[in-house]
Amino acid sequence: TRRTAAELGREFVLQVTGRVIERESKNPKLPTGEIEIAADALVILNRSDVPPFTIEEESDGGDDLRMKYRYLDLRRPPLQRALILRHRMAHAVRTFLDGEGFLEIETPYLIKSTPEGARDFVVPSRMNPNQFYALPQSPQTLKQLLMVAGYDKYFQIVRCFRDEDLRADRQPEFTQIDCEMSFVEQEDVLEVFERWAKHMFREVLDIDFAEPFRRMPWIEAMEKYGSDKPDLRFGMEFHDVTGRVKGHGFGVFDDAEYVCGFAAAGCAGYTRKQIDALTEFVKRPQVGAKGLIWIRVEADAVKSSVDKFYTPDEVRAVAEACGAAAGDMVFLMSGPKFRTLTQLCALRLEVAQQLGLRDPKRFAPLWVVDFPMFEWDDETQRFYAMHHPFTSPKPEDVPYLESDPGRVRANAYDFVCNGTEIGGGSIRIHDPKLQAAIFSCLGFTPEKAQEQFGFLMNAFKYGAPPHGGLAFGFDRLCSLFGGSESIRDYIAFPKNNAGRDVMLDAPSAIDPAQLDELYLDLHTTAK
Ligand code: AMO
Repeated sequence: TRRTAAELGREFVLQVTGRVIERESKNPKLPTGEIEIAADALVILNRSDVPPFTIEEESDGGDDLRMKYRYLDLRRPPLQRALILRHRMAHAVRTFLDGEGFLEIETPYLIKSTPEGARDFVVPSRMNPNQFYALPQSPQTLKQLLMVAGYDKYFQIVRCFRDEDLRADRQPEFTQIDCEMSFVEQEDVLEVFERWAKHMFREVLDIDFAEPFRRMPWIEAMEKYGSDKPDLRFGMEFHDVTGRVKGHGFGVFDDAEYVCGFAAAGCAGYTRKQIDALTEFVKRPQVGAKGLIWIRVEADAVKSSVDKFYTPDEVRAVAEACGAAAGDMVFLMSGPKFRTLTQLCALRLEVAQQLGLRDPKRFAPLWVVDFPMFEWDDETQRFYAMHHPFTSPKPEDVPYLESDPGRVRANAYDFVCNGTEIGGGSIRIHDPKLQAAIFSCLGFTPEKAQEQFGFLMNAFKYGAPPHGGLAFGFDRLCSLFGGSESIRDYIAFPKNNAGRDVMLDAPSAIDPAQLDELYLDLHTTAK
């Protein structure tokens, strides 16, 4: 035994037979630190090469290396905790929804393209030469067909596939908690899923939300926080000061469509250097602002970067309009309305980050409601569905569908927490005529609509119940609950930012014989 023991190395798999005894030098840091085994026999079940990085709470391995050896990284306690959390959450989801009478029903992965705003992943069909399946971006149309089929409370914890650029909260394949109900209005859906969300917070994190979640119209979220997923863990709301600042000879403001700002509480002490760094931050291409105006508010004086154009009283009035008190720093930005709001949002989040206000242990959930039905795209000069083309407009806005599509609001809602969109859904259209009108607003000819969505519109001819639902991003929900920035930590085998699985080395070339079978030729150079 002693000789075998001398051979042991890291990550060896052992079988030890012996007696459990009290340890002489106890280690309170280890869960088993009070005992040890007096070994009678020791068998090495398997040896291990020296692992490429340390498999401990903290690892010395870089991202790429750990992704390549994901099965070793998964041995580390933080990842074990993450996957255990995910399991417990999936369990809590099923318990709740089962208790509410929802049926878990699987839908196919090889389907026809469903537009949800991203590109499809496609799969060539050997049996149907030159034809392709698409992997579902979500089971949206299938769950609507289940409603037509009479399964009036459906859910599924389901994989979705979207070929889009990746970020910390996006993976090309991710999991949704997908739900749909018949004979409901928006209020019914929000009621059930607010109870569900509270159940999750209580079961998994032991947090009770006694009060109803806040409901915020989309336009309010945009104007106060510059985002349709506002982080409400802190204030710093925006204020429109366009009317106050124009006409004083400051060209930037005079020419701007919109000027707005917020007060960073207690930041009057920011140095020139700190302000310059924030100015650089907003000028980065990711934010894209031209500049930043600041007002330092002290009890007896105000100072700003535009003192040349305004009297001290005028400056103070602008600062106060932004909600500032003595000791605060006001930041102002200007330009086209929604672009400015979005840029100011990036600054608000950055300042909050620096002030330590984005505490992952605090949760500020809300529903964002009353989304616009359509979004105008300058580049292609057409409207797109803000949620998806099956979302119903608010009945009172239907008259504007043709005359002024931009003002039509949808019965759509998002569940947002801590600045992340966790889920979203809508009440659907169940009337084939209204669905046809929406397709037409979106620029589909009747023939194209029939070709792409004929299966759904035909189904609606056979007594489709009113229905609606929503889907939560399960990976995002896990990372929110686990307090991590990246959803990757909650996915056993994720892809990297280039969409690659570096462990499996996928995607990769396939055998010419496989290509032949699929009737596929390759371009010799990638575009
Ligand atoms: P939506 O497209 O808003 O709605 O998606 C629902 C939720 O899924 C999550 N999500 C993602 N998570 C990780 N990686 C991604 N690439 C990714 N894309 C989306 C988000 C999002 O809120 N069929 C509709 C739902 C419905 O109307 O019922 C849908 O898919 O958390």
